[in-house]
Amino acid sequence: MRVVRTLDELRQARAALPATVGFVPTMGYLHEGHLSLVRCAKAENASVVVSIFVNPTQFGPDEDLETYPRDLERDLRLLEAEGVDVVWTPTPEVMYPSGYQTWVTVEELTRVLEGAYRPGHFRGVTTVVSKLFLGVWPHRAYFGQKDAQQARVLLQMVRDLNFPIEVVVCPTVREPDGLAMSSRNTYLNPEERRAATVLYRALQAAQAAYDAGERDAEALRQRMREVLAQEPLARVQYVSCADPDTLQELHGPVTRALLSLAVFIGNTRLIDNVLLGYPGGVYPRYTPPGMDARLRHGLG
Ligand code: PAF
Repeated sequence: MRVVRTLDELRQARAALPATVGFVPTMGYLHEGHLSLVRCAKAENASVVVSIFVNPTQFGPDEDLETYPRDLERDLRLLEAEGVDVVWTPTPEVMYPSGYQTWVTVEELTRVLEGAYRPGHFRGVTTVVSKLFLGVWPHRAYFGQKDAQQARVLLQMVRDLNFPIEVVVCPTVREPDGLAMSSRNTYLNPEERRAATVLYRALQAAQAAYDAGERDAEALRQRMREVLAQEPLARVQYVSCADPDTLQELHGPVTRALLSLAVFIGNTRLIDNVLLGYPGGVYPRYTPPGMDARLRHGLG
């Protein structure tokens, strides 16, 4: 496994990789969720590249950039064990050299849900992912359903900018008690960790209501609020039942829906979601038009 830092090193390492190349962008401090993306990439491609970069531009001024957990040595050990070919660990100077002033913005999809509470967050995500894509130039890229809005926004970006990259969204990986895996779970003390299970319990309650025939969007939101209200440590930021494509809040009867929520447990902000009415509960893979030669013969 080669570990590279600069763009020069990356391009040399990338040129030597057999096609197709699968890519998993991460911010490090890897857990089973990340490793499931790596395994998915490994199963579908001849080579796998992982990036580790805590992207400063997707953190707000009051967010946890400084304290975001980091452990590069452990991450590299885990990736080596998964048989990853190249790990790219750019520095902020590599990604945003002095004088940097170019941004990628997806408009409507980023104004709601996470975007409403984290202004600028998605601009940072779409910009860095574009730059990572241009560096790695993969055939396929892998993202988790856990960050549903991020997945939806990146699917839109790849379509709108004609990136010749297939986007694959993989299921959320959960702890045995249902808590969605996240690097931020390490911020929780034992009491908060127990309380944090309320997010998935709320989603499950709404999903059970949907499975039992409830189709009213407000009733599904209400079911989530009822469960969350039972947990004294939970401070709800939003509860949503939205159209999975537009991410606009739904009213009245729903067929497909993205149920999502953001909840503070103590000082830790957690998000989770379930996607109703989609096979496997994930956004479908997006293959840009005209990708046959790239994907089947590894060209380009
Ligand atoms: O999901 C993440 O870890 C990050 O948002 C990503 C996609 C690596 C961009 O920094």
